[in-house]
Amino acid sequence: MTVVTSEQPRHIILTENLTKIYAAGRIQVVAVRGVSLAVEPGEFVAIVGPSGSGKSTLFYLLGGLTRATEGRVVIDGVDFAALKDHERTKLRKHRIGFVFQKFNLLPTLSAMGNIEIAYTVSGRASGPNGVPMDRQYLDHLSEMLAIKGRLEHRPAELSGGEQQRVAIARALITRPAIVLADEPTGNLDTKSSDAVLHMLLRSNRELGQTTLMITHNPEAAAIAGRILHMRDGQIVHEAAGSSPAALRPAVSAAPS
Ligand SMILES: Nc1ncnc2c1ncn2[C@@H]1O[C@H](COP(=O)(O)OP(=O)(O)OP(=O)(O)O)[C@@H](O)[C@H]1O
Ligand SMILES: [Mg+2]
Repeated sequence: MTVVTSEQPRHIILTENLTKIYAAGRIQVVAVRGVSLAVEPGEFVAIVGPSGSGKSTLFYLLGGLTRATEGRVVIDGVDFAALKDHERTKLRKHRIGFVFQKFNLLPTLSAMGNIEIAYTVSGRASGPNGVPMDRQYLDHLSEMLAIKGRLEHRPAELSGGEQQRVAIARALITRPAIVLADEPTGNLDTKSSDAVLHMLLRSNRELGQTTLMITHNPEAAAIAGRILHMRDGQIVHEAAGSSPAALRPAVSAAPS
């Protein structure tokens, strides 16, 4: 007999009174100040706000990369605080794809090596039910992100924008349930930026991902379903995004 329960958490990301205080010597910086946020599965949320308003700190908290000073982060019904370090790491690797503001590519590996190692580390390839990296999907990602001819290069041999797009391919290769992207278009020209936004949007729609994107760019934010405005560590305003149809068609968009 199949028991149908309504126990599925409605929110894939939930924070309650989330606060992060950095202590730098005698000075304390309240980077995130009592943020309560609920994100439903499949949502595309943009976070905008001035430099220093706490966006990246919120990103680190949501990804379990730093501990909250106060408050809770609950991912898919699981409270980060209730997890041991290795359990939190496992949840992160299995469920979340990160695009960091500073890319964080491994300098000694090629672009391809960076993508492959992310897949290996995610654990998807290991064990009896392991699935090897989907080379066709990598092909699709690198085509969409226009990095196909750059995969054998190391990060130092790539432009900032190329590194950024490699970092995006690395985040998406595992088809994570949650994508956290910190300024994914920060270093890109309009054309590349549009391609990246299309990629994120398409990935969100086709894979039912939940996407949280930090951005300075109002045009980028507009593709989201919901836009959260941060200031001084708080979410001070929330607005609906405009229609994704407003986005210019990507030049390299593959047929659906
Ligand atoms: N490790 C740290 N130690 C002390 N203070 C920090 C640390 N990291 C960030 N801060 C401070 O916390 C505040 C929020 O920083 P955060 O990086 O979250 O801002 P941001 O909104 O991402 O800014 P930007 O748009 O410039 O990336 C800033 O005042 C910053 O100086
Ligand atoms: Mg930042």
